[in-house]
Amino acid sequence: MKVDVLLGLQWGDEGKGKVVDVLAPRYDVIARFQGGPNAGHTLEFEGIKHVLHTIPSGIFHPGKVNIIGNGVVIDPVIFKKEIDALTAMGVDISRNLFISRKAHLILPTHRMLDAASEAIKGKAKIGSTLKGIGPAYMDKTGRNGLRVGDIEHAEFGARYDALVAKHKELLSFYQFDRPLSDYETGFMEGIQLLRKMNLIDSEYKINDYLNEGRSVLAEGAQGSLLDIDFGSYPFVTSSNTITAGTCTGLGVAPSKIGEVYGIFKAYCTRVGSGPFPTELENETGELIRQAGKEFGATTGRPRRCGWLDLPALKYTIMLNGVTKLIMTKPDVLSGFSSIKVCTHYKFQGKQIDYMPYDIVTEIAEPVYTELPGWTLPEDGVHEISDLPASLSSYIDFLEAQLGVPVVIVSVGPDRSETLARDPEFAS
Ligand code: GDP
Ligand code: IMO
Ligand code: MG
Repeated sequence: MKVDVLLGLQWGDEGKGKVVDVLAPRYDVIARFQGGPNAGHTLEFEGIKHVLHTIPSGIFHPGKVNIIGNGVVIDPVIFKKEIDALTAMGVDISRNLFISRKAHLILPTHRMLDAASEAIKGKAKIGSTLKGIGPAYMDKTGRNGLRVGDIEHAEFGARYDALVAKHKELLSFYQFDRPLSDYETGFMEGIQLLRKMNLIDSEYKINDYLNEGRSVLAEGAQGSLLDIDFGSYPFVTSSNTITAGTCTGLGVAPSKIGEVYGIFKAYCTRVGSGPFPTELENETGELIRQAGKEFGATTGRPRRCGWLDLPALKYTIMLNGVTKLIMTKPDVLSGFSSIKVCTHYKFQGKQIDYMPYDIVTEIAEPVYTELPGWTLPEDGVHEISDLPASLSSYIDFLEAQLGVPVVIVSVGPDRSETLARDPEFAS
């Protein structure tokens, strides 16, 4: 068997959590491969709305194995809150959640370093979620980090103290002095909880599953335009959010990658700083924000909204080797008389349809095509054949431009509001 991958093609929040939850019944194993509690993946079903940060979005399906891979960074404080909430809902974590010993830990001082780094940047700040992601990955690549497996060793306390002492030196350089005590208490409680969990060598477990013929879905976090290498650097996160991140974040070989599901919204959003060529800083953008409830699932910040950007989508489809597309949230645009799609950029006097090296200091001005809008029935859409003709044409247009089929269309936040465009995905 191969690992199928589902990941975001834009700047995150494409609806990954919802769709992974929808696809979970088709898989034996659901695994997160990168990111950490900067992610906020929302699931809605049976009147419940739940936001997951570190835990894979297959967790609500009894009998499915959920794995937090080595590429993830875990904050024990946030992790404990997630576990407590799931336990209160009756989810049996003890049997279906497994954590890689090689996943790195986010320390309370990583969060402080994140805040200090953002503060010193002033106006040039990344707009980080301030969850300590950047500093934790810096310690990982700097070979200073603490891993989940370390908590099983007697000298964990001493190693923790040594790393905190180092961080305090750095914080004094930043002249950033905040009390640590409250968060540190929560951290140690989280470590106690982690010690009781199923800690595994996840690279072996996943490859064993594949060899046994079991199916695995890898769940991306953030979006491809936030990738550390290929995103709008420096306004990115600190991990590889693209398909390649699955290989390093789970320990599966490139030859073991199967389908790559690329998910995108019918428009575009971004939260935090950085370039956004199709951003609508006007009434239309505000309309989309309100209709789409575009406020961060992790930080509550208003998301910036704009039209769909095809040069950016073509770029991320290429980087990820996307084999199937999934579109979410066309319902949000219901009632618009027309919809714009950016097909090209005007860049340095030329019309281009690729992502240039620098859109941070140079301007990529969108060139739009205008298409007829759609209005969805008040009582929702239940069959793909019920989609208004203009929405079907919009999807046909995108498929022709992008060269990849759109197999699923999500028309609302609930699990049930999902339409199969390819009969293979009919439930
Ligand atoms: P993720 O980070 O990619 O999992 O996405 P988020 O959960 O951060 O943000 C997506 C938001 O849109 C959540 O509030 C979802 O409940 C919601 N959502 C997902 N799909 C749809 C859809 O098709 N239509 C609407 N209106 N909302 C959706
Ligand atoms: P999900 O998985 C949207 C953004 C932050 C910031 C930049 C760096 O829910 O799609 P970081 O905290 O990683 O240092 O922030 O990346 N960002 C996200 N934006 N969705 C996310 O995750 C994000 N995770 C990080 O807003 O601009
Ligand atoms: Mg999100």
